[in-house]
Formats: sequence, C-alpha cells, structure tokens
Amino acid sequence: MHGNDDLRGELRSLVSALKNHVAGERDAYIPVSRLSRKGAGRTRPEGTAAGRAEPSAHAKTAVRKGPSSLVAVRKELGDCTRCPLHRTRLNLVFGEGSPTARLVFVGEAPGEEEDKQGRPFVGRAGQLLTKIINAMGLAREEVYICNILKCRPPGNRNPKEDEIATCEPFLVQQLEAIDPQIICALGTFAAKTLLRTEAPISAIRGKFHDYHGRKLMPTYHPAYLLRNPDAKKLVWEDVQKIMKIL
Ligand code: URA
Repeated sequence: MHGNDDLRGELRSLVSALKNHVAGERDAYIPVSRLSRKGAGRTRPEGTAAGRAEPSAHAKTAVRKGPSSLVAVRKELGDCTRCPLHRTRLNLVFGEGSPTARLVFVGEAPGEEEDKQGRPFVGRAGQLLTKIINAMGLAREEVYICNILKCRPPGNRNPKEDEIATCEPFLVQQLEAIDPQIICALGTFAAKTLLRTEAPISAIRGKFHDYHGRKLMPTYHPAYLLRNPDAKKLVWEDVQKIMKIL
C-alpha cells in the first residue's frame, strides 16, 4: 500500500512541476503588443541606463532584459515552496501581460479568484482595474500586471514581512526583465513595499516617485475604489499623468 501511496505522491509532484513549467512558458510569452512596439527604441529616463545599480539587495541574479529573461524568472521561481504560503495556495500567480510593457501595475497579493485561476487581478477589483486600463486607451495585454506576493495569504490577510522578503526578489527580477518606463503601485501595500516608506497612500499618490531610476506612480487600489467610489476621480487624475508620459 505504501508503495502505491509513494508512487501517487511522486506522480502528483511531477504533474504539479509540469503544470508550473507550462504556466511559466504561457505566462511569459505574450505576443509583443502595439504598446511594446511603440516602446521599441524609446529613450530611457535618466538613470535607467543598463549599468545602473541593482534595484534591490534581494535580487540574487543579474537579470537580462526581454521576454526570454521573464521566462527565466518564471523558471527560477518554479513550483515555489520558499515560504509557508505554498501550503495554502491553489495556484501561484506569477503575473501576465506584455513581457516588454512600458507600464507595469503592481498590486498586493492574489485574492480568492486569482488563486483559483492563477491569474492576477481577475476578481471584482481586477475587473475594475481592467476598466481603468481600457479607459487609458490600453488593453490588459499591452501592460503587465503582477503583485508583491505571488501566493494568496489565507483569508486575504496582510502579507507578512518574511513573505515579502522571500517573494520581492522575483518581482524585482520581473521588473528588470520587462524594463518598463513606468510602474503603477496599486494601494498602500505595494507603494509602501516598493518605496520603502511608511507614508500613507493618500500622501504619496498622484506624484511620480523614483524607483531605481524608473518612474513610480502610487495610486489607490481598485479594491479601495469599490468601497470608496468617490476616489475614482483621483485615480483617474493619477493615471492621466501616466498617460501623458506614455
Ligand atoms: N488584489 C491584488 O492586490 N492583487 C490581485 O491580483 C487581486 C486583488
């Protein structure tokens, strides 16, 4: 009996590893979009030359830019078991969109629907984010969407510091690979984590901040907008500033 159980367990982990490998290829290879082509040959903002400092001390490997390096990041992440969240997740949510996007949205962590589907921002807040992206004259496929954490914290609790410390290096590597012109941090949590600040989102939103030579615009999280629809006009002001640059 034990032999059968072992075999079943081994088969399960093989299937899981294979699923993650296939997901990695799928997540990373999105056709080069209109936005990406516009981005080709663009001038970089000052300080974003290839030789600038690594964005984070956490980043272990020097990451090349471009779609193939995003595949490499996904492969390195693998069927991640680096923190306890792997025990409760249904799916790892790597991120999706154009691997050469000029604009990357960074949220907090997958919620219930994202965990089920293995895709970022596909629940109610995600649908609102899609509307915002479309209102900017863009399609979801033209930007890149990801989170600080790749796995859902149980019951959508706040991410813990050690989970962030374990996961953030992969976000840093994703950003290096995509090489966007602008990052839009969605909500307090993403903004605080990326900018290493304790300032409330209300104090830092609507202005571009420097993120290792890139422009970072913090704005309210779409989930906050669902609870506070009046703040939608502020988010619209913020994303218009992004559109001006793009
Ligand atoms: N909220 C987030 O911060 N990220 C998601 O992917 C979904 C909801």
